[in-house]
Amino acid sequence: MKFFVDTAEIDAIAELNDLGMVDGVTTNPSLIKKSGRDIIEVTKEICDLVSGPVSAEVTATDAATMIAEGRKLLEIADNIAVKVPLTWDGLKACKTLTDDGAKVNVTLCFSTNQALLAAKAGATFISPFIGRLDDIHLDGMDLIEDIRTVYDNYGFETEILAASIRSVNHVADCARIGADVITAPPAVIKSLAGHPLTDKGLATFLADIAAAGIKIL
Ligand code: G3P
Repeated sequence: MKFFVDTAEIDAIAELNDLGMVDGVTTNPSLIKKSGRDIIEVTKEICDLVSGPVSAEVTATDAATMIAEGRKLLEIADNIAVKVPLTWDGLKACKTLTDDGAKVNVTLCFSTNQALLAAKAGATFISPFIGRLDDIHLDGMDLIEDIRTVYDNYGFETEILAASIRSVNHVADCARIGADVITAPPAVIKSLAGHPLTDKGLATFLADIAAAGIKIL
């Protein structure tokens, strides 16, 4: 399963990239706003930092302007994936841009039918939002499982890019189901290594090393 980092914060991306944990990056208008930076500048810096796909989202809602914005975003770097919302205009922009040979990430997906349309429009990635379904007391993981089944039924090549990841349980559940990618905030990715029994066991080892004077070097 590929790990994408869901942020526009350069330092956070660099830290995880140095650990070999960054297969790509996703941004969206809210994350760009949080960065306080110009979208083109920060997106270019991210593209220069990582080799994998970097999702940059359009701001328009009509297909013609989405396509124009997408083509401008694609000029930033070869590893840009244009992000469009799951609307009919977004699907039209997706079809046009993928026909041009671009990678397109269709985002704000909340149903299996939406994911089906995105695959038929040639999307490179589909971004179902798990956490936001959980927020309204639905089970976001059910959507990931449903999309996996439907895509496998028909051999769709669109990659499931599980988004709105809020916990380490979301990550493990996505891996069990077979999502192609998870995109998560840096803090969630960093918390994947943590376990209290690991800490407890290491403390015991260190105490025994000290007590026994064990030395390797
Ligand atoms: O990539 C989408 C993600 O940023 C949304 O996450 O937690 O705002 O639902 P969240």
